[in-house]
Amino acid sequence: MAPAQATDKIPVFDVQLNESHVEAVAATLRSGWLTMGPRIQEFEAEFAEHLGIEHAIAVNSCTAALHLAYLAAGIGPGDEVIVPGITFVASAAAVRYCGGTPVLAEIVGQGDLSLDPEDVEAKISPRTKAVCAVHYGGYAAPLAALGEICERHGLALIEDAAHSPEAVVPGESRKLGTYGLAGTFSFFSNKILSCGEGGLLATADDGVAELARSRRSHAMTTGTWDRHRGHAMGYDVVEVGYNYRLDEPRAALLSARLPDLAADIEARRALTARYRELLGDIESLTLPYSDEQVAASSCYVMPAMLENAEQRDAVRKLLSESHGVQTSVLYPSINEFTAYGRGEQSLPRCEQAARTQLTLPLYPHLGEERLQRVVTALRASLDEVAA
Ligand SMILES: Cc1ncc(COP(=O)(O)O)c(C=O)c1O
Repeated sequence: MAPAQATDKIPVFDVQLNESHVEAVAATLRSGWLTMGPRIQEFEAEFAEHLGIEHAIAVNSCTAALHLAYLAAGIGPGDEVIVPGITFVASAAAVRYCGGTPVLAEIVGQGDLSLDPEDVEAKISPRTKAVCAVHYGGYAAPLAALGEICERHGLALIEDAAHSPEAVVPGESRKLGTYGLAGTFSFFSNKILSCGEGGLLATADDGVAELARSRRSHAMTTGTWDRHRGHAMGYDVVEVGYNYRLDEPRAALLSARLPDLAADIEARRALTARYRELLGDIESLTLPYSDEQVAASSCYVMPAMLENAEQRDAVRKLLSESHGVQTSVLYPSINEFTAYGRGEQSLPRCEQAARTQLTLPLYPHLGEERLQRVVTALRASLDEVAA
């Protein structure tokens, strides 16, 4: 198990595959069947069991899964979906794929970067059809409040669970991604369970599952694998569908990695708790979420909020240039993107988060020594910027 990057630098994220993972992919390549087939079916069954939900439909990205989820919620031209301003742009873009309008809402604040239920309620219009709850960083969005609002207004709740496999609401055992009409997961290379490019839609609803299974492969009535095995001779096309298929080598990699997920998350939680212990006394730093929330989270990222943009940017630069510590920003606020009406809408809490947030290195094999180096480097950079 050689480190993925043998260097002094500490990356913000790192992926480490072992021989059994590589062998699972190699065996699939040797099998000669590369597109959607038995390994996808196996992985879907495993992930459905892992989530404790009826249907898991593998696709080639979480963006594709979001598109299918919104289609299944009936989103079309003229419809609005409420989406947090702080998320990856895909949560909003997929609404536009359907011809709908993403309506951006506020996050709770510096201590909790998830969608604010009060602002959701304020943004509901006669055109609102759905709400997208993003489990930012693997921390559960306020599902009880959002679910209640959706129920009262007859809206669909879609969970963007790209960051949150294995995570739960504190005190609950039901996994995130299983509360809404659909939950969408990402297996993109920097995600917790990664295969390069991949995604999945989870649902308990038979109709949603049927739509997603059909539209991911051109809404054809039979698949290539069925035809290959002689189970079908031809096909009809019953809707306009897409090519959102995952392939077999990636499914094999996901199946090989899934048994390690729980241990990976435990390691992430322990590292996050350690960061919080070592950084908790710094006055100019806000560490979002509580220890209880950390224990329920998938701990996809380690967020820290600084005081202002100048300080954040200067600290990031010092961390990178003087200490070899890579950081990132999750996320720019969507209302500030050109394609989303740059500046037309004001979302002060999202904008503040976008200017002050810093994501520190976090991956299961980060280890105490590197974590200590990050902490020391962060303290030194904060002191230097304050001086
Ligand atoms: C919150 C969120 N939603 C959706 C996506 C899209 O995932 P994918 O890259 O698998 O399409 C991402 C990926 O970064 C994400 O972070």
